Amino acid sequence: MLIELDLVTKIYNQGHANEVRALTDVTLAIEENTMVCLRGASGSGKSTLLSIIGCVFPPTSGRAAIAGKQLSRLPDRFMTIHRRQNIGFIFQQFNVLPELTVLDNIGLPLLPLGVAPAIRKKRATMLMERLGIAHRADFPARQISGGELQRVAIARALINNQPIILADEPTAHLDTRLSLEFMQIMDDLKTEGKTVIIASHDQLITESPSLDRIIDVKDGRIHHVP
Ligand SMILES: Nc1ncnc2c1ncn2[C@@H]1O[C@H](COP(=O)(O)OP(=O)(O)OP(=O)(O)O)[C@@H](O)[C@H]1O
Ligand SMILES: [Mg+2]
Repeated sequence: MLIELDLVTKIYNQGHANEVRALTDVTLAIEENTMVCLRGASGSGKSTLLSIIGCVFPPTSGRAAIAGKQLSRLPDRFMTIHRRQNIGFIFQQFNVLPELTVLDNIGLPLLPLGVAPAIRKKRATMLMERLGIAHRADFPARQISGGELQRVAIARALINNQPIILADEPTAHLDTRLSLEFMQIMDDLKTEGKTVIIASHDQLITESPSLDRIIDVKDGRIHHVP
């Protein structure tokens, strides 16, 4: 199993006055090459769950095994390496650096890996061509449109050929046409063998025929898992 969570609980600020229990006893398995939606109201724990699947932090308790590694057994530095190799993360606000060019934004995740500039450029160019933004390569990101920005964020999430693609409310800033295009791109990625997990309450996503499965998150718990 690519992703396996067993009684995962996440408590923010544990032991402090501002303690928050964001996830409680989440048990979940996600197979390779599936497209899944995490659906739930605001504050239900979707982003927290994505962060654990995305190897951003380990659970407070319970077991999370992602792409063959148990997070709580990985020292921070190794968890970061594991994340870079396995996870492509598409953020709601895209997290694109406005002053950097499209090309440099896309190649950014390769910097800490010490990939040579020529190879960075080659890989980024291939992705830009595929996503139809090659003509924007040398534009600073602040000058491109919302739909183009999202393609930059997608390209950046794919640059290291990671097998798991996570997207947090990816259509929150997109109109219907761009949202449908986004789902088409995710569908293509699945066809290539990737595993795609999208956190959203957008009906355009939750009703998409591309999904293999919807997982309902409510008050930090998972409902209706087959
Ligand atoms: N860094 C943090 N520190 C403390 N509490 C947090 C932190 N991040 C999230 N929380 C809390 O944990 C709970 C779950 O938050 P989470 O962001 O996972 O929900 P969500 O389903 O993604 O919500 P939304 O749809 O609004 O993005 C919320 O009560 C939130 O306030
Ligand atoms: Mg969220």
